[in-house]
Amino acid sequence: MSAADATPGGVTSTLHLDSTLADARVVVLAGGGGVGKTTTAAGIGLGLARRGRRVCVLTIDPARRLADALGLEGVADEPVQVPLEPSAPDGGTVGELWVVMLDAKSTWDGLIREYADSPEAAEKVLQNRVYKEFSGAVAGTQEYTAVEKLHELLQSGRWDVVLLDTPPTRNALDFLDAPQRLHSFLDSRALQLLLKPASGGLGLLGRGAGVFTGLLKRALGVDLLSDLVEFFGVLGGMSKGFGERARAVQALLAEPRTVFLLVAAPHPESLAEAGAFRKALSGRDITYGGLVVNRLTRAARHEDEDAVRDALAEALGDEDVAARAAAMHERIRRQATHDERLITEHLRGPGDEPVLLVPQLAEDVHDVEGLDRLVEHLFPAAG
Ligand SMILES: Nc1ncnc2c1ncn2[C@@H]1O[C@H](COP(=O)(O)OP(=O)(O)OP(=O)(O)O)[C@@H](O)[C@H]1O
Ligand SMILES: [Mg+2]
Repeated sequence: MSAADATPGGVTSTLHLDSTLADARVVVLAGGGGVGKTTTAAGIGLGLARRGRRVCVLTIDPARRLADALGLEGVADEPVQVPLEPSAPDGGTVGELWVVMLDAKSTWDGLIREYADSPEAAEKVLQNRVYKEFSGAVAGTQEYTAVEKLHELLQSGRWDVVLLDTPPTRNALDFLDAPQRLHSFLDSRALQLLLKPASGGLGLLGRGAGVFTGLLKRALGVDLLSDLVEFFGVLGGMSKGFGERARAVQALLAEPRTVFLLVAAPHPESLAEAGAFRKALSGRDITYGGLVVNRLTRAARHEDEDAVRDALAEALGDEDVAARAAAMHERIRRQATHDERLITEHLRGPGDEPVLLVPQLAEDVHDVEGLDRLVEHLFPAAG
């Protein structure tokens, strides 16, 4: 444990990724918006690759500069390998780091091709106006396609471990339940009834909608409703395939080698959100690894204010500048103490939750060097 990862009062990390992820095949990073899920996923991925494993990070919407630095620019849905220089002078064993950016639409297209009865049927759906809207935009499809893609990556056997960076969902369960929810919807009686051909017609939707369709057609110049009927008709027919897949994905998430990590910022709302996530997860058949508290303000453990000012005055040779620097130093120390209190309070809530403290780095993390700096804190050298 480096001094940087201890708080002024001595709260230290109890989550050790080397052991927690020793056998992991899937690592899921969840948490609120903007707390550093993508950065942490990439950092853990790099750390594991530096330990000799073949790693793929499935990321969602990474910050532009990081995406560019990793070679993801303009590449959707295809894993790209990040060239890694050995970080240790003696070379050491370096595994592989791959990254892939989730593209919900192409994942959907792949699924439709796989489960449609024929290439013609698939083409019909792919060209369908409603489908195009649905696959690209509808809420929840990102959650669904993320786990789908995860499944596909693992099936390929090209990686030892796949990290899943999740979209900033308000509810972790949205994402866990997405495959099952989609299947239930496709399988639902309501949908079947809506689409079931009645006396040669198109089902309730088709029959009841004649006048309405006519109006829409005239108003919009497009036959949207018949696209809708066609879309759900074909999708409904694929329900069995989706159902099997949903079960496979669910089983994958429940495997002991699938480890969930939560990421939070040292803010009351973020920690409360993480607490709620954890509670929701605890009723599930999943392996919870622990909480990463990211962007912690760090300060040396014990410092006497006067001694700091004297040392600064001597180093800077200017009392005024030294006083200002000392004041800034004091603010940082207070913030560090504040962060620590929040974490201590949080830990009192959920019991002995393993936590990993990651400091706020001097700069944004936007390239492999930045990620390597993060790795030092994600995988601190023992001792
Ligand atoms: N420990 C850190 N030190 C400094 N900067 C950091 C740290 N962790 C994350 N950042 C920066 O914070 C920003 C947000 O991080 P990131 O994109 O990983 O968050 P996110 O949780 O994935 O966001 P979203 O919910 O929008 O997907 C990025 O610019 C990243 O470089
Ligand atoms: Mg992100």
